[in-house]
Amino acid sequence: MCGIVGYIGKNKAQPVLIEGLKRLEYRGYDSAGISILEKSKVKHFRALGRVSNLESKIGEKIFDGRVGIAHTRWATHGKPSVVNAHPHASCDKSIFVVHNGIIENYLELRSGLKKKRHVFKSETDTEVVAHLIEEKQKKQKDLFNSVKSALADLRGAYGIAVIDKKFPDEIIVARKGSPLLFGVGKDEFIISSDASAILGHTNKIVYLNDGELAKITRDDYRVFSLESGYVNKKTTKVNWSQDGAQKDGFAHYMLKEIYEQPQAIANSLQGRVNHFIDEGLVRPTLGGLAPNRDIENHIKKIERLVIVSCGTSYYAGLVAEYMIEECAGIPVEVETASEFRYRKPILNSKTAVLAISQSGETADTLEAIREAKLKGALTLGVVNVVGSTIARETDAGVYNHAGPEIGVASTKAFTSQLVVLLLIALSLGRQRDMSFIDGKEVATELKRIPQLIEAILGQDKEIKKIVSKYSKYKNWLCLGRKYNFPIALEGALKIKEISYVHAEGYAAGEMKHGPIAMIDKNFPSLFIVPKDSVYEKVISGMEEIKARGGKVLAIATEGDSLISKIADDVIYIPKTLEMLTPLLAVIPLQLFAYHLGVSLGYDVDKPRNLAKSVTVE
Ligand code: G6P
Repeated sequence: MCGIVGYIGKNKAQPVLIEGLKRLEYRGYDSAGISILEKSKVKHFRALGRVSNLESKIGEKIFDGRVGIAHTRWATHGKPSVVNAHPHASCDKSIFVVHNGIIENYLELRSGLKKKRHVFKSETDTEVVAHLIEEKQKKQKDLFNSVKSALADLRGAYGIAVIDKKFPDEIIVARKGSPLLFGVGKDEFIISSDASAILGHTNKIVYLNDGELAKITRDDYRVFSLESGYVNKKTTKVNWSQDGAQKDGFAHYMLKEIYEQPQAIANSLQGRVNHFIDEGLVRPTLGGLAPNRDIENHIKKIERLVIVSCGTSYYAGLVAEYMIEECAGIPVEVETASEFRYRKPILNSKTAVLAISQSGETADTLEAIREAKLKGALTLGVVNVVGSTIARETDAGVYNHAGPEIGVASTKAFTSQLVVLLLIALSLGRQRDMSFIDGKEVATELKRIPQLIEAILGQDKEIKKIVSKYSKYKNWLCLGRKYNFPIALEGALKIKEISYVHAEGYAAGEMKHGPIAMIDKNFPSLFIVPKDSVYEKVISGMEEIKARGGKVLAIATEGDSLISKIADDVIYIPKTLEMLTPLLAVIPLQLFAYHLGVSLGYDVDKPRNLAKSVTVE
């Protein structure tokens, strides 16, 4: 699993490929590699770790080749190492392949190819693809047909790009289950697994669908379906610039993205709530939920909602469960997408399945949506990346409009997901029993959230100081109740992801049924305890921890005079409606995790073992 970049065109391939790899490094950074066709030779380099290591290995030289492929890897089959790094080559070192996905029958293919005297150098599933194409070339002669024939033997998921020094004027790309697209520039084509590597060059993109492959030459491209032949594929214009993908003076993308949250939320709200608040329009404007009359009517009639998502997006789903049930009275179930597909989900035409995904490419979430479609459910999406697979495959949906999120640990995508999910809750609520006044009250307060977040960001220095007091602890319990139970889970995840400190998220009321056994002076707890309907219950839990010698750090509402008498340290958030407290409570947690990770000396933008977008199951 990885980032793929390819180039064919009038310019030197190497700078474009390296720049693309840097933009995609957030998708995986175990190793990186590049192969460039230059005259009758292939310039081939691979390095362990970051793209910068690959650059050092290549040195100052800029090769003249105008065709090449490159890859940044997140290991699935075979440990991170130079030999396992992509591109992988055929025995005759003519064919080079980069691959995203998992070839499930690779062991079987590998043993068949070994019998035909192919020699394997790596432990990866990808290498079989290069040898299989080589084998097919004995009959097919050209590259396109030998790739096509090889694909017919593969089981599993792939996005691939292939070059061959015997055919120096073409790149063959294909997709099944893993994203693959290419940008159409002036006399050049840039291939990638992710539009963010391309947008600096062109915003005209061809998205391959599953089961499609393309032959890209220096001045043309032709797309084919594996089943039905030539496909007349048009370009899609993507209105998403590269601007958001720079650090702008911040030490890390993560910090920049934390600070971008007021703007990201304002963008999520733009054009969606004003009419509802100012002009009495019956509900928020969410055009994506009503792409046509049939779907609009279908949504009005749904009786149950199942949310599928992973990681931080899963926690956004848990918050949405509370919001949607409260605003719209529709029963909601939230399920991690990886579980959904392999049990027997009970779905019918009155159930809608909503995928939440920042990237729109997470394999588990995508497959859950496909399963839901198969079972006849309406599928919806809340997605940040415009044009991504989940956005394209769902029946209707709403974009976050949070801009590119590069930090592996999700921050602004999460808060913008919450905002969009709340707008959906209001929209569903207004179609049902929610009164205009109640809806308007929530929407009006929602518009204030960017400025309230600004106020929390203003406390960054104090939060950093608190972190220095607590950075020696190796374990944390993060606790919250009702709307802030999922925020406790998200806070614990953030701490684990970027500081490698063990943190367990728990429902504050459930803590006494087990985790309290762990508490002593070396095991602090982080309580999310805003002034809401469960405030007193959470305070009782806090007292129970204090009574057992545990330290307490609290996130509480400004003006709460009791809290500082119980907790050892307090971070205050402004007062807001209970339903909106998750949007504020998560901000100090993000800053806390960030400063903890940095103070422990870790690269918080690229935490070990993680990847931004997991496109394998
Ligand atoms: C990966 C990332 C997480 C993210 C999850 C879901 O595990 O490291 O930060 O929350 O995928 O990603 P998605 O793009 O579907 O929201």
